[in-house]
Amino acid sequence: MADIDSLKQALAVSPDNVLLMLLLGDALLEQFSLEEARQQFENVLQLEPANAVAKTQVAQILDLSGKSSEAIVRLEQVSGESPNFAPAWLLRAKLALNENNSTEARECYDKAITLDAAMSDIDLLKRIRQAGGRTPTPPPENIQPQATSDFQAGAYFDPDFEEDDDEFDDSTPFGPPPSAASELEMDFVQKADTDFTKVGGMECVKEDIRMKILYPMENKELFEAYGKKAGGGVLLYGPPGCGKTLISRATAGEINAKFMSVGLHQILDMWIGKSEEKLHEIFELARRNAPSVLFFDEVDALAADRKDMRTSAGRTLINQFLAEMDGRQDENDGVLILGATNAPWHLDSAFLRPGRFDRLIFVPPPDEPARAEIIKIMGEGKPLAGLDAAALAKRLKDFSGADIKAVFDQAIEASLAEAMKSGKIVPVTQRQLVKTTKKVKPSTLKWFESAKNYAIYANQSGFYDDVLEHLGIQK
Ligand SMILES: Nc1ncnc2c1ncn2[C@@H]1O[C@H](COP(=O)(O)OP(=O)(O)OP(=O)(O)O)[C@@H](O)[C@H]1O
Ligand SMILES: [Mg+2]
Repeated sequence: MADIDSLKQALAVSPDNVLLMLLLGDALLEQFSLEEARQQFENVLQLEPANAVAKTQVAQILDLSGKSSEAIVRLEQVSGESPNFAPAWLLRAKLALNENNSTEARECYDKAITLDAAMSDIDLLKRIRQAGGRTPTPPPENIQPQATSDFQAGAYFDPDFEEDDDEFDDSTPFGPPPSAASELEMDFVQKADTDFTKVGGMECVKEDIRMKILYPMENKELFEAYGKKAGGGVLLYGPPGCGKTLISRATAGEINAKFMSVGLHQILDMWIGKSEEKLHEIFELARRNAPSVLFFDEVDALAADRKDMRTSAGRTLINQFLAEMDGRQDENDGVLILGATNAPWHLDSAFLRPGRFDRLIFVPPPDEPARAEIIKIMGEGKPLAGLDAAALAKRLKDFSGADIKAVFDQAIEASLAEAMKSGKIVPVTQRQLVKTTKKVKPSTLKWFESAKNYAIYANQSGFYDDVLEHLGIQK
């Protein structure tokens, strides 16, 4: 949202700037300062009496103030004066739907997206259709579709008219609007581009994941005999840069499954007000694509003590998330739900109940052999001379995978700079790598400073036992 104060300041400098007024009006409207917002739009109309944007926004404000009939009349006027102004038609569709006039809602909606395909609003369309709004056959001349309390949805339909099964067949000259699923698919479904061979160390994590999804898929009957199914929830936690995101991606590649990566901030920001619905659609998409890996990065975004989670909207999102994880029986079969966080202490304990994230995996910084493996992986396909992975690994105590990557990146950049000067390939030497290790500081220690306190003082049900063990502290 544009900053209201700076818009006001800008307007004080150029008081007749219509664009600034509209922006300020929008910003005020967004924070529900209806009167002030309306004033801005009225100011625009003083300068430009036919401004369709300002008129439509005034109508919206009227509707929000409970004066929906006046809003509808005004909007009809806008559509009369500026018939090609799509937002007015879209708002008309919403208002008509609120008045239970699904036929008119559908007409206005169709008109809006015919004029501007970008207006397509799948949720609105769904609601219109649920209310019975289909593309109508024209009503008889003498009957005007009106919003009346006894209006029967579908009263103007040809009784023989059969709605085509295809949801969006009747939509626009621009072709059908993208379905909710395909939009989501574009946003979230990714091709699995890596597998376990690209992840150094982490043997326990790999085995846990195999046990949860790979083996049950390969040995379906055997697992069923023991009442075990593929899928479930696994929460990965640990210091930053140690491969939580990497191993999640690699899991999908390992089992050749679809990988869907969802940042919860993304859901909160992208779909204000309808994030639960979207979360549900994302789970549905994963179910349809099973076997699939549904990965929630920064799952602590759903922590109850976060600012945006204190609101009831945040709470309902948490509840929706939990409900999706619980699922109906069999619903989440073949869907591996991975969550990752480096602040597990912010998580609501409700997430950790059976059937939800019931496997908790600590992803520690790589130990020496794991570091050596990571070093080899980092070196693959690069011009190196005399790499001694084991010796280098020894020097990199407390380095995360990301820190090791930083060492390689810097050493490679230095060689590349040399190569540019000489015009031929200059390999990266062990000496150079060792030299670079001194420039990169290990980043995992800081995390343990916080984790240690939680592990010692808030270790309910042994949540942090692995952390204590890693730190060599007696449980
Ligand atoms: N075990 C590993 N094997 C190979 N590369 C690794 C490993 N761990 C980390 N890396 C490298 O470090 C990068 C960062 O790791 P990743 O993003 O998976 O860490 P993370 O644990 O998810 O961190 P954050 O908590 O900050 O999200 C990876 O892209 C990869 O290049
Ligand atoms: Mg990560």
